[in-house]
Amino acid sequence: MSERLLALRNVGKAYRTTHGLVPVLNRVDMEISRGEIVALTGASGVGKSTLLHLMGGLDQVSTGEIVFGDRMLSEMTDLELAGYRNRSVGFVFQFHHLLPEFTALENVAMPLLIRKGGSRNAAYDAAVAILEVVGLSARLRHFPAQLSGGEQQRVALARAMVTSPAMILADEPTGNLDAGTGRIVFEMIRHLNETFGVTFVIATHDLDLARYSHRWLTMVAGGVADAPVIREQ
Ligand SMILES: Nc1ncnc2c1ncn2[C@@H]1O[C@H](COP(=O)(O)OP(=O)(O)OP(=O)(O)O)[C@@H](O)[C@H]1O
Ligand SMILES: [Mg+2]
Repeated sequence: MSERLLALRNVGKAYRTTHGLVPVLNRVDMEISRGEIVALTGASGVGKSTLLHLMGGLDQVSTGEIVFGDRMLSEMTDLELAGYRNRSVGFVFQFHHLLPEFTALENVAMPLLIRKGGSRNAAYDAAVAILEVVGLSARLRHFPAQLSGGEQQRVALARAMVTSPAMILADEPTGNLDAGTGRIVFEMIRHLNETFGVTFVIATHDLDLARYSHRWLTMVAGGVADAPVIREQ
């Protein structure tokens, strides 16, 4: 049997705004097994990024629970939650969020450099090694603006990988790429999954990517209280 890595139990999310509560998710139940590549599709605004942010401990659920291994995120102290974000999870954001004033190498090393007590040399060695895995050894000293879109996405993947996380949450990692380049980025994801056993949850509008994932979930609007329901595709 596959080992459960992450479980969402009856998760709801409403954003608090000056105009009141904006309900987005309601009664979401799902499980992610270790080693899976799960694609999450659904119309723009349905709540995919919201779900990834909750899974990654970047935002808090309004109701329900998220359990990573045997730990509830809501019961973690701030320090434990920071550790979860830095060590257990890697995030590839919808817009890659590379730091423009730092090179590819520095961007990838950053999650290790900001750790207390870590060695700088070890951080750069790890960054060089993972940039080689994603095929960017010849681009270490390039700044983000000097890289193509696909290369920037691969740097973002390398940055998410450098801490050896159990799980990577990728928000439209092939968005804004042509089909061929998107395919290369997805091949990287599969390679990282097969080589290092990393679990991936990928929000995407790319149906090819969804089709080639291990599991495809789709969010459809109009469930309980108009919040989307999540279906196996
Ligand atoms: N901070 C916020 N405050 C209020 N409402 C928000 C906030 N963030 C997101 N929303 C709303 O929550 C809903 C879900 O947004 P989300 O970004 O999760 O959608 P998405 O499925 O990722 O869409 P896309 O495919 O366009 O990236 C949207 O209607 C959005 O307007
Ligand atoms: Mg989104």
